[in-house]
Amino acid sequence: MKISLQSSPDSGISLFVLVDVAQPVPASLSDQIPGLERIVRQAVFKADFNDGLQLYSEQGLCNLLGLGKIDELTPQKLAKIAQTIVSVTQKKYQNIDVDISALPEQFHYSFGLYLAQAAYQYHAFKSEKKEALLSQVQLIASNSTLDADQLAFLNAVISGQNFARDLGNCPPNICAPEYLADQALELAKQYPDLLKVTVLEEPQIAELGMNAFLAVAQGSARPGRIITLEYCSDLQQAPVVLVGKGVTFDSGGISLKPAAAMDEMKYDMCGAASVLGTIRALCEAKLPIHVVGAIASVENMPSGKATRPGDIVTTMSGQTVEILNTDAEGRLVLCDTLTYIQRFNPELVIDIATLTGACVVALGKVLSGLFSSDEVLAQEIMDAGQQSMDRVWRMPVMEDYQELLDSPFADIANIGGPHGGSITAACFLQRFTREYRWAHLDIAGTAWLSGPNKGATGRPVPLLMQLLKNRVKV
Ligand code: BES
Ligand code: MN
Ligand code: ZN
Repeated sequence: MKISLQSSPDSGISLFVLVDVAQPVPASLSDQIPGLERIVRQAVFKADFNDGLQLYSEQGLCNLLGLGKIDELTPQKLAKIAQTIVSVTQKKYQNIDVDISALPEQFHYSFGLYLAQAAYQYHAFKSEKKEALLSQVQLIASNSTLDADQLAFLNAVISGQNFARDLGNCPPNICAPEYLADQALELAKQYPDLLKVTVLEEPQIAELGMNAFLAVAQGSARPGRIITLEYCSDLQQAPVVLVGKGVTFDSGGISLKPAAAMDEMKYDMCGAASVLGTIRALCEAKLPIHVVGAIASVENMPSGKATRPGDIVTTMSGQTVEILNTDAEGRLVLCDTLTYIQRFNPELVIDIATLTGACVVALGKVLSGLFSSDEVLAQEIMDAGQQSMDRVWRMPVMEDYQELLDSPFADIANIGGPHGGSITAACFLQRFTREYRWAHLDIAGTAWLSGPNKGATGRPVPLLMQLLKNRVKV
């Protein structure tokens, strides 16, 4: 879906007009619809939050939609308003006008994003195509500070987030490591001047000594891939490196997961999807910043060739790991990738991973877990999360927890016992990131929703894009 902005509607009146309690009769309409004040009074329309009034006039149909009291408006409420608009128009209109003059300017960007998020659907595998018509929203405001650049940025974020959602929702029989590699190569074909993609196959990965990565890959009939995407690599600045967990299906391996909701482990590649989505958004927005995406992609399966609990491997860094639980596989594929990306001499590194069930227990499905011992970087990420409404909560990663990962036989164990599971997972990764500035985002709770709204969210693409935009040197 594309968002555009105009100072006044083409067609006389807008299909939706957001109105505030203080002014339930919008000035933009009162000259166009005679007697509007009386109609609104008779209908007892007060413009309370999410309250609607349908008007038919000579100029056409128009829906007033209440925002409630402006100073009580929250992003969550605004998202609801966007959902209301989308749900009543999605199947009927290709193009709608929404007059947002009553909406304070600081909400214009996020409202555009919420509309697009509400309009997203995934029906690639429905035999009867029930495609939504709605593909374009014109925001109407005479006073908006959104300029052409910001609008282009917004549309790029929407496109990147939708791409991440499509990849996340794709079934695991199709979305395997090779499929993610093909998606990256396809993107590079679309943007040959901006993007360079490299795909490492297992023989090269073995050559590099990435044995923790291979320990996870070896149980599957489908080979693992390390994918790197270099964006704007001709810029003479050290890159921001984004590392994504791309486990295309996490059965747990020999430490097999229970059957209930195991299908949701197709989403275990959402970190990788967010990296691909962010790179796509960067290509569309053409931000002048050097970014490298790196994706560690495997399928975690049990088989006669699979890793056993108790196996010990030597990682690319030289540290040895005792694999006590094959279901703690994300950290194994990430640790070698975090060593591999040192060759890019990163300015900073952020990994994004559906890493632990413990993070879902701690933070639920609202906030992503942020782990970093770098105060400045942590603050930067928290700010970007707040600005984009793709929020994070800072969790500890500190030496005091490291001893929980002690192993009697190797340098480190891949699990840290029953307590503080998301922290010990972060501590594991920390041992491989000592050479650069680093933060870890655990998106196990936020990357997808279950229940009636089941599906990938495309988070944290909005956060990452905000962060990168904030870092563009002017
Ligand atoms: N992909 C899972 C984490 C996960 C679980 C994400 C549930 C979202 C919902 C990860 O690979 C995993 O299995 N982690 C284990 C670690 C444990 C064995 C130390 C977990 O969280 O149970
Ligand atoms: Mn697992
Ligand atoms: Zn996993």
